[in-house]
Formats: sequence, C-alpha cells, structure tokens
Amino acid sequence: MSQLSSASVNYQPEHAKARADFWPEFVDAQKRWQIEESFWRGLVDQYGIRVLDTCSGAGVEAIGLSQMGCDVTANEEDPFLRDVLQVNLDDSNLVLPVTDLKWKNLAENLPEESFDMLLCVGNSLTYLFTREDQLLALHNFKRLLKKGGVLVLDERNYMPIKRRVEETLAKGKPLEYTSSCGNGSPMYCGETIVAYPVQVNESGTYTFHYKRIPKLDSAQEIRGQVGDVLTENREPVAVEMYPFSVLEVGGLLQQVEFERVATFSDLEPGISRSAHFYQHLAIKG
Ligand SMILES: C[S@@+](CC[C@H](N)C(=O)[O-])C[C@H]1O[C@@H](n2cnc3c(N)ncnc32)[C@H](O)[C@@H]1O
Repeated sequence: MSQLSSASVNYQPEHAKARADFWPEFVDAQKRWQIEESFWRGLVDQYGIRVLDTCSGAGVEAIGLSQMGCDVTANEEDPFLRDVLQVNLDDSNLVLPVTDLKWKNLAENLPEESFDMLLCVGNSLTYLFTREDQLLALHNFKRLLKKGGVLVLDERNYMPIKRRVEETLAKGKPLEYTSSCGNGSPMYCGETIVAYPVQVNESGTYTFHYKRIPKLDSAQEIRGQVGDVLTENREPVAVEMYPFSVLEVGGLLQQVEFERVATFSDLEPGISRSAHFYQHLAIKG
C-alpha cells in the first residue's frame, strides 16, 4: 500500500484550497447541526464537556458543542480549512483554542487523559491509507482521553459505493457519478455538490472528484453551473480515500483496546446496511 505522503492529492495546495472553498456548501452547517444536535447533547450529558475535535473542518461540531457549553479545543491541520474554521468562529463570536496538529503528533502536543470526548467525524480516518498510520492515530486519540471517555469516530458506508464501482468496472465503463453524499446523508447535507469515484488506485485507495449537480428552482429550471468542480488550474478537484470494508474500523478500535464499541447508523443506534454513515462510540477503559 502506498504511504500517505506530501505527494498525495489530498495535500496538494490547489486541491486542498479548492476543497476548503466549497466545504461550507458541501457540508451545509445549519442543516447538519439540526440533524446532529440531539445526538451530541446525549453524548455530552453522558460523557462530559471537555471536548477535542481532532479534525474540525468548517467547525460545525466545535461551534455547536461550544455553544452547548462544552470546553472545546478545535484541531485542524489543513491550513485552508483552518481559515474557514476561523471565519466561522469569528462569525459566531467564539474564541476557542485552535491547534494545527497531524494526528501522528497529537498526543505529544496535548495533555494526556484530559478530554471526556474526542471527535473524528465527517469520514476523516479514510485519509490515512496504511494500517500503521490508522493505528497510530487511534492510539493517540486514546491517549488523550480520560478513563471512561469516548471517541466518536465515523465512517462512510463504502459498501454500496464499492459494489457499484466493481459493477461499473466489470462492464468496462468509466467510473462516473456512482455515488452521492447528499440525499439523506447526516454529514454532507449540501444538495449542490456530490463526490464520486473516478479511479481505483493500485494501493486500493479510491480517487474521487466532486461534481456540481443541477439545482432546480420552482419552475424546474436548472440554476448555476453544472459539472466537475475545478481547481484554479482548471483541473477537477480530487481527493484520495481509503475505502474501509465492513467491520474494518471496528476491528481497528478493538486492536487499540478500547474497552467497548457501540455503532450507530446515521446517528440511530444499531447497524443498518443502508446507512450513509456509521458512528462508532469507543470507550476508553
Ligand atoms: C473529510 S474532512 C472532514 C472535516 C470535518 N470533520 C467535517 O466533518 O467536515 C477530513 C478531515 O481530516 C483531516 N485530516 C486528514 N488527514 C489528517 C491527518 N493526518 N492528521 C490530522 N488531520 C487530518 C483534514 O484536515 C480534515 O479536517
């Protein structure tokens, strides 16, 4: 498997900047928080208020939890997303500690056993491609949690995507528009941009592009641009992701010896095959 290196498209500035530019539209913060708020409220009541969001993105959860009364530290290692986060914090009149750490450096830069809850959501672990990197990140998350604290780690349900990718490739067709994140996803709630796989890489990762889809107005007319979202260099904005298999993330959490793992499907208890996202609650014993 290939190492996550600075050569990955994920870290190429023109792609990272373009993703950050449309991230608020892709996420739709207001809608996401509306869907998620009661889920987080239950967790805060149960586990406590000292929270670290390990990859805050535009800051939906960091802001929402802070406004709920939590003591939030917002980590965002991507400088372009950090700018978006800062704008959103300013707009919300919030001043939070903001860090810029990679997960591999998290535990040595933040106090151990100091958080009640850690967040790694929005399908973020998928950005690590090797078992070694994935396990190191999870170990570091665990070190920062106090005993009895909870890691909330989510993952995209890749199964339907994988199935359609395999079927499409088997027919010798190009990968085009096989998955939409919108349509009921609790995380990426925007209705104007979807991510879709364009390539299966030798290492097993998938490369995705983002497509702007038609938004119909009341007269059923298409408004705005339609087609791939482009970088400043007019290339399709890309991202590379490791598509976890069923049970793989749960297995990793067990490997780093979290005491107990409970899985939710689109924020509801239990496992549903049709979910867009799974949320794992991993408790440190
Ligand atoms: C898909 S975005 C999700 C952002 C945000 N949580 C959300 O839900 O919108 C992936 C996140 O993972 C972070 N990330 C990716 N690789 C990382 C690494 N090695 N260390 C720390 N953060 C990383 C990115 O900076 C980004 O915040």
